[in-house]
Amino acid sequence: MSLGADRPEILVVSSTARFRSLAKRIPQPSDTVLEIGCSSGGTTRNLIKSGARIFATDNSRTFTDQLREELEDTPRVSVHHVDGRNINELVRLVAAPNLIFIDIGGDARLDHIALQVRFCLLAYRPRLIVVRNFELAWVTSMTTLSEPPDEHVDCFPLLSESDDLTLETLLELSHSANVNNRIYAVRKLLGLEAPAAAERIAAMRHDPEARVRRTIERIDGW
Ligand SMILES: C[S@@+](CC[C@H](N)C(=O)[O-])C[C@H]1O[C@@H](n2cnc3c(N)ncnc32)[C@H](O)[C@@H]1O
Repeated sequence: MSLGADRPEILVVSSTARFRSLAKRIPQPSDTVLEIGCSSGGTTRNLIKSGARIFATDNSRTFTDQLREELEDTPRVSVHHVDGRNINELVRLVAAPNLIFIDIGGDARLDHIALQVRFCLLAYRPRLIVVRNFELAWVTSMTTLSEPPDEHVDCFPLLSESDDLTLETLLELSHSANVNNRIYAVRKLLGLEAPAAAERIAAMRHDPEARVRRTIERIDGW
């Protein structure tokens, strides 16, 4: 399925106050909401007030354990320890959210947040994505002309698990300018059998960043 008419609306904000206020105002009880980067639940608590079904996720186990305990008796919300870069796991958790709230840090770099948005567009067809990020907010606020490509240029073909989202997204992450993304990709690629994964790891043994090379040595040896 191509994006076409199903193109989601994207709201980009900078402040936590605005992000939380949108979380209070936008969802309807019939909505299914995926939150990526729930932290200690400041936004989650607002999402809950809507009566929508909420899947709150974060890659910090400390946050998810605490929030899960706090919301144990609250209906229609569940809290999960998932890294947003692991789009396969997100899809297994929630197949078709119609709203996605992303706050993986206002100061997360543009390439990092762009990748997260890209993964969401490859995996889902939501009605709306709300993102909090400073660099993305700057770029979008400086944009005075935006010409979408022709409909036949399908930038975000909807991928299914059978398209091996894991391998695709990990290979992409392994080329990220962000060192932490490359380290994350190395750890996951080392667990895959696919020849493409082994090939990429071989190339990454020469990564310019020592931390990436050391991660491979530690897990896989030479
Ligand atoms: C600024 S906080 C979110 C604050 C939240 N919106 C609120 O209203 O309280 C950012 C959160 O994103 C999480 N995070 C960062 N990178 C992530 C990733 N790749 N996947 C999931 N969560 C991530 C961090 O652990 C942190 O808890």
